Amino acid sequence: MRAPAGVDEVLRYANDARILVVDDEPANTVLLERILRSFGHRQVTATTDPLEAWTLFEHGLRQHAPFDLLCTDLHMPGLGGLQLIERVTAATPQGDFLPILVLTADLQPAAEHEALVRGAQDFVTKPFRKEQIQLRVGNLLRTRYLHLQLRDHAGRLEELVRERTIELEAARLDALERLASAAEYRDHATGRHAQRVGLLAALVGERLGLPEEEVELLHRAAPLHDVGKIGIPDHILLKPGRLTDDEFSQMKEHVAVGSRLLSQGRSRLIVMAERIAAYHHERWDGSGYPRGLRGDDIPLVGQIVAVADVFDTLIHERPYKHAWPLAEAVEEIRRQRGRWFAPRVVDAFLALVAGRPELVTDLDGIVVGAVGGDDDAGDHARPVERPGED
Ligand SMILES: [Fe+2]
Repeated sequence: MRAPAGVDEVLRYANDARILVVDDEPANTVLLERILRSFGHRQVTATTDPLEAWTLFEHGLRQHAPFDLLCTDLHMPGLGGLQLIERVTAATPQGDFLPILVLTADLQPAAEHEALVRGAQDFVTKPFRKEQIQLRVGNLLRTRYLHLQLRDHAGRLEELVRERTIELEAARLDALERLASAAEYRDHATGRHAQRVGLLAALVGERLGLPEEEVELLHRAAPLHDVGKIGIPDHILLKPGRLTDDEFSQMKEHVAVGSRLLSQGRSRLIVMAERIAAYHHERWDGSGYPRGLRGDDIPLVGQIVAVADVFDTLIHERPYKHAWPLAEAVEEIRRQRGRWFAPRVVDAFLALVAGRPELVTDLDGIVVGAVGGDDDAGDHARPVERPGED
């Protein structure tokens, strides 16, 4: 919080404030300008033509150098003072405060009322005295100054809140990326499988026409699909060869562990991550785990991540298999259409690969974020049960 405005500061502001004076009587504009300058106001613009006053006012707004005070006569040919006040008030940006001082010989209550209704703040009767002008102008400019201070302060606060929000969001996403990486760290600390799956799932989701917000959530949530591997013992997780039935059963537990870890999330992101963790090993034909769900009983995000997860595993090396060439891996996904994978998800994936194959092979180059672990589905789901490769 800044200290209250000092007298010097207000004075400096008042001396440099842009003042617009309009009165069709030249003697009045000359006198008023002289008085204002004698009180230290350096930026006084005076005119006897109200239409010119309006043009000057508009020009100031356009140039981001608005007037700080308008001193206007009421009875003028061409454009009356009331109309000028009305125009100026309407053109003043919302939330801005422009002081208007009316100089008039006509101080009938009706005229005063009209001027106030249209946006005038104060009156000086003609012929005016120097001290009156000094007092009224001083008060109005002080009010304008405080208004500007408040507006700046509110702007700074808003900016600060915006910065903090961005920082907080970045910290949250950072923490989630690191959690996904931690889950894979014991496995293969060299690659970035989790983040690649996130990006690929988002690309497929986009292709499927999911709303932008859902795609972004998918991008952030999918890397957590195997967070439950944290709960799998090393001798199973790190076993290079084929898993026994018992070991495989234990490996399947990573789905339940992941779902539990992510349960009761308070954000859409964590809620989606929980679904993905729970359903990414279900298969379209019902042969997956843990529930053996079939078709669209499997949530779409689970269907999408299943494809992204398996595909990325195929094209990267594992302790028990070589990396597959892209064409063979794509063929395998196609072959599993309607068996392992949802047909429309496979179609979206194939369209994606056909359009920009580099997208799915260069995911590492595209993903920006924390260091990830490597590889997954192959280690426990063993998607590529081909002779000689496991
Ligand atoms: Fe998994």
